[in-house]
Amino acid sequence: MSELKVAFIGTGRLTETPGAMGYAMAHMHADGYRLLDDVEMVACADIVPENAQAFADKYEFTDIYTDYNEMLTSVKPDVVSISTWPHLHAQMVLDCAAAGVPAVHCEKPMAHTFGAAKAMLAACEESGTRLTFNHQRRYGKPFYMAKELLDDGAIGELQKIEFGTSDLYDYGSHSWDMANYFNDECDTRWVLCGLDYSEENVVFGAHNENHSIAVWEYENGVFGMAAGGDATALVGCHHRMVGTEGIIEIARSNMPALRVLRAGEDWKAIDTGDEGCHAAEFVYRCIADIVDCLRTGGESQMNARNALRATEQIFACWESVRRRGMVTLPLDIEDNPLEAMIEAGDLKPAAQS
Ligand SMILES: NC(=O)c1ccc[n+]([C@@H]2O[C@H](COP(=O)([O-])OP(=O)(O)OC[C@H]3O[C@@H](n4cnc5c(N)ncnc54)[C@H](O)[C@@H]3O)[C@@H](O)[C@H]2O)c1
Repeated sequence: MSELKVAFIGTGRLTETPGAMGYAMAHMHADGYRLLDDVEMVACADIVPENAQAFADKYEFTDIYTDYNEMLTSVKPDVVSISTWPHLHAQMVLDCAAAGVPAVHCEKPMAHTFGAAKAMLAACEESGTRLTFNHQRRYGKPFYMAKELLDDGAIGELQKIEFGTSDLYDYGSHSWDMANYFNDECDTRWVLCGLDYSEENVVFGAHNENHSIAVWEYENGVFGMAAGGDATALVGCHHRMVGTEGIIEIARSNMPALRVLRAGEDWKAIDTGDEGCHAAEFVYRCIADIVDCLRTGGESQMNARNALRATEQIFACWESVRRRGMVTLPLDIEDNPLEAMIEAGDLKPAAQS
């Protein structure tokens, strides 16, 4: 089998290293590629040369760049992992598509505006680039075992999905994606949201509201509710699926990670081994999946259409606040309503201390 050449845009700096600005997700992606046969990590690009150098030293290659477009031209990688902050994702994906990269695996959230997210999907569909987003919880036992329970009819017909989150966009990106996974990637009919943004909360360069409550209805009649910030306790778990004959809950941090309640029975814990909601192994499974899909011609469940569905719900929530009303999908905006409301002075978060 021919070796796949993998390159990285944005390497990060490990959290234990002075000057680290984030989580250095590229290292986690690289740990995933390292587990695979016939995959060679060949190059990386980072505007901070010492970040790129440390990454290349760790993963044992020498080709480093500060300009990722130069890297794309010289290296012609088969797979590019993008681990930069969200406002940079769109241009990088568009440049990868223009350079004819066969597969791009980008970190979440998808993009900083809804228009940019749509443009990423369109460009990759045009170029034939397999674009995926690192919504790794799909590969975590509590999550895929919950889906198996749902598919097996353990709680009857699905009626409602709830999730608790810190925010709707940064962490929320995962939570929306999982809600849609549980509801068979169904599209959304409408969204209604209220939020508080009184203290600046900038995460990876992007504004995130402090507290929120959102409700929505899917096209198949399933309802959803998300509670963020101080409202999280309203849901009290990571995800809850309510069916005609029972309830499935995924815990936020405590064990059991997964439990089910059926009519006439007590709560029953489901054995997920030692897997909770967070594990590096989930990311390794994502990486294995995108490489496998590239080789076999399959489509990863982390595909950009699934990511765009979650992105649309997030921006629809913020649009609901801007319009002070219910928003019917498909969403007909291009911008980022939260940012627009801040710029217009409609939201005035106090500066971060
Ligand atoms: N999947 C998850 O669970 C998870 C967890 C944490 C973060 N993330 C996401 O991962 C993304 C990256 O976060 P991080 O914590 O790895 O960030 P980070 O700050 O650790 O690393 C980002 C790197 O990008 C580099 N960079 C900036 N501009 C660049 C450019 N033009 N060209 C090349 N490199 C450039 C920076 O120098 C830095 O080294 C974010 O979107 C974040 O939301 C995902």
